[in-house]
Amino acid sequence: MKCVDDFRLRLGNHELVPIVIGGMGVDISTAELALEAARLGGVGHISDAMVPTVADRRFKTHFVKDKLKQYKYNVANEDKKDVQFDLAILAEATQLHVGRTMEAKRGSGLILVNCMEKLTMNAPKETLRVRMRAALDAGIDGITLAAGLHLGSFALIEDHPRFRDAKLGIIVSSLRALQLFLKKSARTQRLPDYVVIEGPLAGGHLGFGMDWAQYDLRTIVAEIRAWLATEQLDIPLIPAGGIFTGGDAVDFLEQGAAAVQVATRFTVAKECGLPNDVKQEYFKASEDDIEVNGISPTGYPMRMLKNSPAIGDGIRPNCEAYGYILDANGNCQYIQAYNRELAMHPGEKKIKVWDKTCLCTQMRNFELWTCGHYTYRLKDTTRSCADGSYILLTAEHIFDDYRYSKGSVIALPAATETAP
Ligand SMILES: Cc1cc2nc3c(=O)[nH]c(=O)nc-3n(C[C@H](O)[C@H](O)[C@H](O)COP(=O)(O)O)c2cc1C
Repeated sequence: MKCVDDFRLRLGNHELVPIVIGGMGVDISTAELALEAARLGGVGHISDAMVPTVADRRFKTHFVKDKLKQYKYNVANEDKKDVQFDLAILAEATQLHVGRTMEAKRGSGLILVNCMEKLTMNAPKETLRVRMRAALDAGIDGITLAAGLHLGSFALIEDHPRFRDAKLGIIVSSLRALQLFLKKSARTQRLPDYVVIEGPLAGGHLGFGMDWAQYDLRTIVAEIRAWLATEQLDIPLIPAGGIFTGGDAVDFLEQGAAAVQVATRFTVAKECGLPNDVKQEYFKASEDDIEVNGISPTGYPMRMLKNSPAIGDGIRPNCEAYGYILDANGNCQYIQAYNRELAMHPGEKKIKVWDKTCLCTQMRNFELWTCGHYTYRLKDTTRSCADGSYILLTAEHIFDDYRYSKGSVIALPAATETAP
């Protein structure tokens, strides 16, 4: 019986352990987590979601405070068109986050940045261009295009000196999305270096409708592989979503996948950015505690724990400080939902908003507990303590379990490990 370590991912000159830790915003896939993946010879992701916020946390900068100060006059205004990102500041924050991460990189692996198109930031094209270019300037190994079709994203960086040497990939959830991307990017004469195929069991936002349960990762991967073969295109495919054990990964690798992308298992790693008490919520979750709902103002379905404090929380929109989901016209579905509730409950101190959430603030505060479908199996990957809490794992332990375990076996941490 084979294990993941019997396979290698080849990306250009790089020969890698075929385990990719997926991007998890906002700073759930921390630099520390990505650095561990690279040190161990695999691929890690940092996320560029809310980078000024992340930079403030990491480097004691005050990007968010300064932006809030600049736009404070607008806080009570329903119209958020005025609230713009300063592109120079955005570039500075990105270069700081990415640059410091790359300086700390050890080992033969790669660190990529997950760039979500759905972070429209009140100026979708300009802000995406700056985010990608600043990451390339700061030496990122590559960019994974996420949460969107990215039909114009290659064009935004095609004149960057690193456009052909950096690793560029895209996440798709259907053959159709990949076909559209390749068609629209053809003009840049550059194929993606890899394609992550994300199925319906993944965490975060899903590339499916509320009928997600009718789709199956294996079928989508087979469909894409067959089409690429007919087109004589050789692009490494990286399935993602619900790959929980080394054996699950080997199944995909034996069927021709170049690597697997995984995330949920790492949400309970010591290096993961979630607070420790939230990690315990992930451990405790049962299957019934997890749902896919429509509260994300991006319009994409999102999977999360039902007891996330964000659900129903009617906080005032915080766009003057954040504003990452504002579309090109300065709108966000949460602002509309919030204003509707405000109008329906005049004078009420604490309103509830159930149909949408203030994604920026809630993700920033770790109050929206997005998670993968198999989160309810995390408790089987560790030991519990006398007080009922679960022992956190090291990223290395989880990585090595994927790498070396065979079949459905999951290696537990040593009995001597203590609770956080
Ligand atoms: C907590 C969490 C947050 C996530 N956030 C993002 C994100 O910001 N961008 C993205 O492209 N994918 C995101 N994902 C998806 C993962 O990168 C990954 O592709 C997927 O979850 C893999 O499936 P698995 O979690 O079953 O291993 C997230 C997943 C989790 C669990």
